[in-house]
Amino acid sequence: MKKVKLKVPATVANLVCGFDILGMAIHEPYDEMEITLLETPEIIIRHKDQFGLPEEPSKNVAGVVLLKIQEHLNLKNGFEVVIHKHIKPGSGLGSSAASAAGAALGANILLENILSRDEMVHFAMFGEELASGVRHADNIAPCIYGGITLVKSTNPIDIIPLNTPNLFVAAVHPQVEVKTSDARQILKKTITLKNAVEQWGNIAGLVAGIQKNDFSLIGRSLNDVIIEPVRSILIPKFDEIKMKSIEIGALGGGISGSGPSIFMLAEEKETAEKIADLMKSIYDEINIESLIYVSKVNPTGIEIIEKP
Ligand code: HSE
Repeated sequence: MKKVKLKVPATVANLVCGFDILGMAIHEPYDEMEITLLETPEIIIRHKDQFGLPEEPSKNVAGVVLLKIQEHLNLKNGFEVVIHKHIKPGSGLGSSAASAAGAALGANILLENILSRDEMVHFAMFGEELASGVRHADNIAPCIYGGITLVKSTNPIDIIPLNTPNLFVAAVHPQVEVKTSDARQILKKTITLKNAVEQWGNIAGLVAGIQKNDFSLIGRSLNDVIIEPVRSILIPKFDEIKMKSIEIGALGGGISGSGPSIFMLAEEKETAEKIADLMKSIYDEINIESLIYVSKVNPTGIEIIEKP
């Protein structure tokens, strides 16, 4: 029986100003996935974690991706998927994208690379649609491509892999749940031209900074005048964490995806560690449990641990 084992990383979507278009893979946390090709057409999903996610294929993020691939390719085979999640659902660290991207990439390996990377992104987006109601690719693309990606368009799929700057990421996940669907619902549907112009400047500056390894430009561009002012209200101590992290050396940062996790970028590992400790201590003070992660930008995305 053909089987593949994957390490599927967390991702930070939006990168502050690039709502739904920018995303970055990190090293930790990550999910473990084991996918087996079956002779018979059924899809079996098993979770080894404690998150109580549905295992019925049509209600499971990995399951719907595999059902779509099966239907598209008219497959006689099925898949058994064993998922050990470490990326908590509702963390803003790309938990659903990890399951969706892992399922698409794992199936593709078992099917001897029948799909292109963009086709994998296309099928994985059905998982995001199940989880949040919207087919966005800003977490999926960096998971599948690695590093930092720009989703220029999802229809047609047009993904631009960007340079991987030599930066460290400090992230904190306060243990309060923010559902992506809720965090999208509260957003304003229209924006002013003034805000749009400011945001375009920030996005263009951020992409240019990433491409040129210009860390000062990256820092100056990590500003969001559209989404952050609305969503940050859902995240306890957001403003304090951001301000104090920058005071101790962060280039900048903000909400990871739809939150509640917060991430900061730093040039040195020691600075990133100091920032992570600061984030934790701020949550400790108000008795909110939190998990902290320090890692580099992950240039490769999903890692294949065992090939068929
Ligand atoms: N771009 C999406 C959002 C990411 O901000 O809603 C969700 O993880």
